[in-house]
Amino acid sequence: MRISQRARVMQESPIRKLAPLATAARQRGLSIYHLNIGQPDLPTPPQFLEAVARFADPVLAYGPSDGLPALREAICAYFSRYKIHLDPSQVLITNGGSEAILFAFSVVADQQEEIIVPEPFYTNYNGYAQMANLHLVPVRTHAEEGFHLPPNEVLERAVSSRTKALLLCSPNNPTGTVLTREELERAADFCLRHDLFLIADEVYKEFTYDGRQHTSVLELPEVEQRVIVVDSISKRFSACGARVGAIISRNRDVMAACLKLGQARLCPPTLEQLGAVAAYQLEEDYFAAIRREYQRRRDVLYDKLTAEPGIILRKPRGAFYMIVKMQGINDADDFAAWLLRDFAEGGETVMVAPASGFYATPGAGRDEVRIAYVLEVAKLERAAEVFLAGLAQYRALQPALTTEA
Ligand SMILES: Cc1ncc(COP(=O)(O)O)c(C=O)c1O
Repeated sequence: MRISQRARVMQESPIRKLAPLATAARQRGLSIYHLNIGQPDLPTPPQFLEAVARFADPVLAYGPSDGLPALREAICAYFSRYKIHLDPSQVLITNGGSEAILFAFSVVADQQEEIIVPEPFYTNYNGYAQMANLHLVPVRTHAEEGFHLPPNEVLERAVSSRTKALLLCSPNNPTGTVLTREELERAADFCLRHDLFLIADEVYKEFTYDGRQHTSVLELPEVEQRVIVVDSISKRFSACGARVGAIISRNRDVMAACLKLGQARLCPPTLEQLGAVAAYQLEEDYFAAIRREYQRRRDVLYDKLTAEPGIILRKPRGAFYMIVKMQGINDADDFAAWLLRDFAEGGETVMVAPASGFYATPGAGRDEVRIAYVLEVAKLERAAEVFLAGLAQYRALQPALTTEA
């Protein structure tokens, strides 16, 4: 017996694949700064947990496939703060943003059809493309340009008769780039010209810095019927384990199709939806405090890293990630493994995610790592020092490593 081709070709998570080396490092007594994973360390709002605890029904029954009406209404009220007017029928609650991605992919494209996506991109898009049996067609973005949307001619070259959608993520994981309104309008024009859906992953919507406002594709009237937004409470309310997200579209056919997919998996989790309803009552100052904290962390990390020669990094404007390009490194997978296996400074090391796993183009990102700044400032400062010490030592070893190979 053989497992399916689909299962065999599925990629390992670049964020988690070094976990065995980290376990071994811990067993050797090292302490590890985890810069590899986007798990926010800020507390989940108590209002969320209290709402869950208040649940008193005698049976934890199935809920509606499209989610609890109270949560769909709360999400509409939240968007209306940004002058984005939605009806609850345009919001369907999913098991995390992850399921919203799978639903979006499944609804817009048939087998072997294509979705264009700027790379590097959130690595799990690969897994969902595999599950939905479609192809992601990458268009390259570059560290030197702050990973902004590529020029039109690059986008045009990626179009084929099988293209069904453009997928954007802003604020971006893994780059931290926030697309400007002009870029989004250019993307919308592109979708209009080629009759494509515009899927936008906006799960980091609240995480924008330097006073920048995030523009949602839901604000672009000309593509109203083409837009599908992937949303989630995981990062917004530091509630990754809740598994509550949403798919949002004003296109009725899209929402009717999503409802059928939703019915097939019965319903999203009830208790966590109740928590989310409470979290959505939080005022703007909750988000303002979070933005301040992450911006401080970004600044600390950015200043430390860019003080070092040979690092290419444009200041990211959102989310809590950055892609760090390192001159003189040509195998960041090996570098990240080496940090855990062979390096320590003062009994400490760092775990980072090699960026190659965020690219679909073979060989791309081999001189880059993704760093998540989800540690408090003092730890982050130390983690940056340990990372830079490791980088200097690894660079010094490079010629020796190359000769040995
Ligand atoms: C860009 C992006 N989209 C979607 C998700 C999925 O989030 P969740 O399924 O926890 O809502 C993540 C999680 O890290 C992400 O970074």
